[in-house]
Amino acid sequence: MNIHTYEKVWIVASMVLIVGFIATITYGAVGPGIAMIDDDGGDINPDKINDDERFAEPGVEHVGGNEYEVTVVAQAWSYTPSEIEIPANSEVTFYVTSRDVTHSFSVVGTNVNTMVVPGQVSEMTAKFDEPDEYGILCNEYCGEFHHTMEGKLNVVPEDEFDLTELSVEADDEIDAGNETTITANVENGMQEDLETTVSLEIGNQTQEEDVTVPGDGSEEVEFTVDSADLGEGDNDWTVTVDDYEESGTLSVVTSEGNESADGGDGDA
Ligand code: CUA
Repeated sequence: MNIHTYEKVWIVASMVLIVGFIATITYGAVGPGIAMIDDDGGDINPDKINDDERFAEPGVEHVGGNEYEVTVVAQAWSYTPSEIEIPANSEVTFYVTSRDVTHSFSVVGTNVNTMVVPGQVSEMTAKFDEPDEYGILCNEYCGEFHHTMEGKLNVVPEDEFDLTELSVEADDEIDAGNETTITANVENGMQEDLETTVSLEIGNQTQEEDVTVPGDGSEEVEFTVDSADLGEGDNDWTVTVDDYEESGTLSVVTSEGNESADGGDGDA
């Protein structure tokens, strides 16, 4: 059979076009690493988010090495937490769910961009190499204040990042002549041990104690304070660990000072 030369050219050209179309679609679906939302993250009852192990206390968790997990709850019209801090050179998996209607979670300037559907947990992983600041936006119309629904993702230098939390328990007042204890609790959210120093400043004295807080654990430090070393009245104190501090006031009262407290005025 004799095929005309022009006919041959057109057959080949249309073949090339078809193959080209298929290649483009395949690349678009697989190449840039864009995934459709699926049920990888699992289901969740949107009315019981506070009872869910992952979302009861949303925030940043260290998994190990440079891997982190971030849980976020979306609701009209905010994210909890609204500000997220992670270290540079990290691989972060986001788990996001909604308490009410459909929102989205989009880290502007990255390919983290997902719908957030009540009842579903959206999961996606991204790498953050350099310190930077990103905005987080809701791209899904979700009501009157949709345009105000935003958050922040701060990628800080690795050596400025930790997951330390300090809480302090202390009495408000002691009787003159007595001792009291100021208890500092240091929580370490990283998987590695934390070696640090906890210090207490009160009146004109400073007490220090070196501690090793185990990875994913906490450590209590007790400081004994003797009222004899303090002035009568209010004494400000500050407990410091690394960049964290908490402060309060301890009043040293004499017993007469106590009794004057019930001297109510007799106006009728
Ligand atoms: Cu949430 Cu728009």
